[in-house]
Amino acid sequence: MKPIADLIIFNANELLTISGSSFKPRTGKQMDDLDIIKNGTVAVSKDKIIACGTSDEVMEKVSKTSDTVEIDASNKVVMPGFIDSHTHLVFAGSREDEFGQRIKGASYMDLLRSGGGILNTVRATRAAGKEELIKRSLGHLDTMRKFGTTTVESKSGYGLTMEDELKQLHVMKELNVIHSIEVIPTFLVHTTPPEFKSPGEYIDFVIDTMLSKMQGMAEYCDVFCEHDVFDIEQSRRLLTAAKKLGFNLKLHVDQLSDMGGAKLAASLHAVSASHLEHISREGIDALAKSGTIAILLPGATFFLGSNTYAPASEMIYRGVAVALATDFNPGSCPTESMQIILTLACLKMRMSPAQAINAATINAAHAINRADTIGSLEVGKQADVMILNVPNHKCIPYHFGVNLVQTVIKKGKIVYDGQTELVSK
Ligand code: NIG
Ligand code: FE
Repeated sequence: MKPIADLIIFNANELLTISGSSFKPRTGKQMDDLDIIKNGTVAVSKDKIIACGTSDEVMEKVSKTSDTVEIDASNKVVMPGFIDSHTHLVFAGSREDEFGQRIKGASYMDLLRSGGGILNTVRATRAAGKEELIKRSLGHLDTMRKFGTTTVESKSGYGLTMEDELKQLHVMKELNVIHSIEVIPTFLVHTTPPEFKSPGEYIDFVIDTMLSKMQGMAEYCDVFCEHDVFDIEQSRRLLTAAKKLGFNLKLHVDQLSDMGGAKLAASLHAVSASHLEHISREGIDALAKSGTIAILLPGATFFLGSNTYAPASEMIYRGVAVALATDFNPGSCPTESMQIILTLACLKMRMSPAQAINAATINAAHAINRADTIGSLEVGKQADVMILNVPNHKCIPYHFGVNLVQTVIKKGKIVYDGQTELVSK
């Protein structure tokens, strides 16, 4: 008996399966391949993909009933939902006034040193209740979903006290129940709050008092390693303690200067290292060797007005697994759209459209340890699928600044349909 499909998306001009990389992220030349099936069809039962191939191949393997939903994807691209593997989703307040100051010449770090920047958002987030944070985050998640994102990683780091960090992480837990996008929680040690005398003193407090309370609430521990924030030794001390408690590791490194952060990430066998605009040649080789994923965030480089983008092509050439993410946050990158990130990756970091799509799907799934279930369209994987209103994948970064997504399917359910504006749980 052939299994019955609940949903069949048929005749996609390009079906980007991105198959065969669930065990190892894509590197080097593999990043140019999207395993495209022309006139492809994908069949779904419950929350899983049950067949993928040409229409004839799929119809040989599955059967339909009168309840089967069929979507004609002629002239369209069908691909896995985007995975946004680095965001700061949960926060209150906004920083458009600082944006105005930056336009006039103030630097991002000057604002932070004078008690603004991240600390501005910390004040607003501390003052906000859980309900307000949930409401605001749901709005951002709706926008992300509408632009094709089906899974996000989300960092704390705007509370900095035990109570306020836990508040952010509790909000993420609740979002997972009430919204269809999956939210993967990270405890981020973001900066030193004003009630502490020095970064070293705050790191001691986090290690001695906070870390163990974050266990079970966050999968990852992350740190902002940068001049005037946390140095290499403080970051190493924190992450070594976090690793002992069972956290997987992520880092913000080499964003505004080369601190040797990529080498630190590699030596700790971190799952990912983000930013990397100023990574050194040794840093690149260290990431390639350790298998730590480089999550590049060209939206933040762009929005901070810098011309120094991460050297994506060199990283790919030297064997680093590259992922792309928005870094969605109120200071350095207030956009929920992965589509604009792909455009920036191509234009500013000279990635090809295929490399950018691999970086936003399968490699991003590896960056959150989820490549066994998401990131590609393969039999047995979770049915996180989107249909884009473009004839081929090269149009995704090319036709920029508008939403190209027509339909988003999460765990087999249509959760966004741009034609009817149907938005369900
Ligand atoms: O990844 N670099 C540090 N943290 C964030 C920005 C957070 C903020 O400015 O609020 C980032 O860019
Ligand atoms: Fe970030």
